[in-house]
Amino acid sequence: MFMKKRILTGDRPTGKLHVGHYIGSLANRVKLQDEYDEYILIADLQALTDNFDDPKKVSENVRELVMDYLSIGIDPKKATIVIQSQVPELAELTFFYMNLVTLGRLKRNPTVKEELNQKGFEKSIPMGFLTYPVSQAADITGFDADLVPVGEDQLPMIEQTNEIVRTFNRLYGKTIKESKAMVGDVARLIGLDGKSKMSKSLENSIYLCESTESLKKKIMSMYTDPARVRADMPGKVEGNPVFIYHDVFNPNKSEVNDLKERYKKGTVGDVEVKEKLFVAMENFIAPIREKRKKFENDPKYVREVMKEGTEKGRKVVQDVVARVKKSIGVDKYY
Ligand code: TRP
Repeated sequence: MFMKKRILTGDRPTGKLHVGHYIGSLANRVKLQDEYDEYILIADLQALTDNFDDPKKVSENVRELVMDYLSIGIDPKKATIVIQSQVPELAELTFFYMNLVTLGRLKRNPTVKEELNQKGFEKSIPMGFLTYPVSQAADITGFDADLVPVGEDQLPMIEQTNEIVRTFNRLYGKTIKESKAMVGDVARLIGLDGKSKMSKSLENSIYLCESTESLKKKIMSMYTDPARVRADMPGKVEGNPVFIYHDVFNPNKSEVNDLKERYKKGTVGDVEVKEKLFVAMENFIAPIREKRKKFENDPKYVREVMKEGTEKGRKVVQDVVARVKKSIGVDKYY
């Protein structure tokens, strides 16, 4: 029998998803669910490593994330949604892997380094945070993942995971699987402010569940070409977030090209460009919003998706942990 390759992706549940997530990874996950055996891990334990003082922020966002997945077209019959904290074997696996990683190596992990900086943790590093790459290695290997679709910022995590795998297999015999990052054309969407990527913490995001009114407000106050102070002045299209969004979200290419031409000549105002962008984005978001409402009104279904996915995922991890314990020899004492 032909076995589909397994994919594992993960998100920290710390907020609702935005259109940047959609472009960067969610659309890809929807596509991949047909071709691969896809698992999506809601990494609430990992999210706690830098939100331990605000656990509600994490726990309350788990459901939100599930509803976001379902409303963009993740099909629980094809993709398995798993909640990390409900699979205690992942913590068990993390404990075995801790022996195989040094403090120095963790501190040198570029992603960890950058995050320590951002969060002001440098002076006093919580152990949980420092060791989250080990827990992520448990996530990836615990699901026997072949491929891990991630953004570039996550590459050091996969590299570190594979180091752990090699050390483990050398010491205890070949037991766990190396995996490959699947970076592909993971696009980064610029934020509404035009300064950096769309990010919840920068308050420059359009959410997948954005209301019509708030979508309109956000688009109408978007950053455009700062040098263009009047509509009859030639403007810059390249790097202009309004046109970047048009390119991504407006399927009417001739309208977009016409707007670009007129913008460059100074014969169209920002307002018209933005109003047309609003229409395109509303068309994109409206069906997602509608579907989401359906799931908001059906908490029982959402609970079932979480429960069934987690139970299925847990079995996979339990098998791997059984193998790991057997290889180390800590399985049969009595
Ligand atoms: N670290 C990832 C992030 O911050 C989330 C994550 C947790 C993950 N476990 C994973 C990603 C396993 C891929 C595979 O986005």
